[in-house]
Amino acid sequence: MQTLTVDLGDRSYPIHIGPGLLDRADLVVPHLAQKRVMVVTNTTVAPLYLARLTATLEAAGIAVANVVLPDGEAYKNWETLNLIFDALLAGRAERKTTLIALGGGVIGDMTGFAAACYQRGVPFVQIPTTLLSQVDSSVGGKTGINHPLGKNMIGAFYQPRVVLADTGTLKTLPPRELSAGLAEVIKYGLIWDADFLAWLDANMAKLRALDPAAIAHAVYRSCEIKAQVVAADEREGGLRAILNLGHTFGHAIETGMGYGTWLHGEAVAAGMVLAAATSQRLGWLSEADVARTRTIVRAAGLPDAAPTLPFDTWFEYMGHDKKVEGGKLRFVLLKKLGEAVITGDVPEAILREVLPR
Ligand code: NAD
Ligand code: GLY
Repeated sequence: MQTLTVDLGDRSYPIHIGPGLLDRADLVVPHLAQKRVMVVTNTTVAPLYLARLTATLEAAGIAVANVVLPDGEAYKNWETLNLIFDALLAGRAERKTTLIALGGGVIGDMTGFAAACYQRGVPFVQIPTTLLSQVDSSVGGKTGINHPLGKNMIGAFYQPRVVLADTGTLKTLPPRELSAGLAEVIKYGLIWDADFLAWLDANMAKLRALDPAAIAHAVYRSCEIKAQVVAADEREGGLRAILNLGHTFGHAIETGMGYGTWLHGEAVAAGMVLAAATSQRLGWLSEADVARTRTIVRAAGLPDAAPTLPFDTWFEYMGHDKKVEGGKLRFVLLKKLGEAVITGDVPEAILREVLPR
């Protein structure tokens, strides 16, 4: 097991990474405010891992309740969120009862938001079970739900007490979901670390085959970069926005195509290629850099081309973006491979060239 820390003063917390962590009550119990938890999971993950986690915690003297939600991005909404509150109230959960998110990013984002709201804030723990949630969504405290007009537009910054990334759970993940997680891993190389990008070029086949050492390194380095960025800018006053490379385009794809049609990671992958193409037209990347971005995205089993949407639809959905300032779109682009830049100065003519319509 490897451990690193998200450094946020008195709200700092550890991220533990490795196989078999679902059996480690000792990593969770010290972070509980009372010997009572509510596990939030979904209909896919519950049959795989809920009994095991429950047994681990009960053996340590913890009372474990649970709520099992329907599975899918299309359920990341108010109605499903309310099922968590229904279960908390029906079970008379208290202010010190800890919520545990057991699942991918959808479960993590909704559980964190429920924890931020229930009785104005109860403790929560992240146990991410997809690659995407282990390298990104479980770390950094962004929680929330979707609105029909915009992705993740309703939510809160609310940090977990501990993150347990049990890499053994990735064995049951469908290959398409593994690839979706690799999109966010590639993102860290593109925005922050050219050496890591080169390592990913060389190790993509191992990652797709779930080679334990390769997966451990990819999860650790991704969390390390994310923890560094979040510690510097928790509430996205500036720097943290770089973690959204490809997301302005990607969120428009997800919303425009209907939640769940394109996976979040797939939309981000196609969005990163669009960001690279835009950066090239601004004179920052070479054609070879754009080709390399496409190649690594394809090697990860991800789409390197966005779907066709009417130009107005692109603009409508890109306009519902949390980076919009004074009504003006802002984009995360690349100055070079391994270095991101945030800019509001992208001429519409360039967007008309790169966006498929
Ligand atoms: P997801 O939560 O929908 O999980 C993908 C699928 O895998 C689901 O069907 C899920 O039930 C299933 N699954 C989960 N673990 C499994 C396992 N071990 N074995 C088999 N199946 C398993 O999707 P995701 O890719 O994990 O997360 C995407 C979500 O995360 C999006 O809503 C996105 O907006 C959000 N996100 C949030 C942040 C953040 O900082 N909060 C960052 C990135 C993405
Ligand atoms: N996934 C973007 C962020 O956490 O800021």
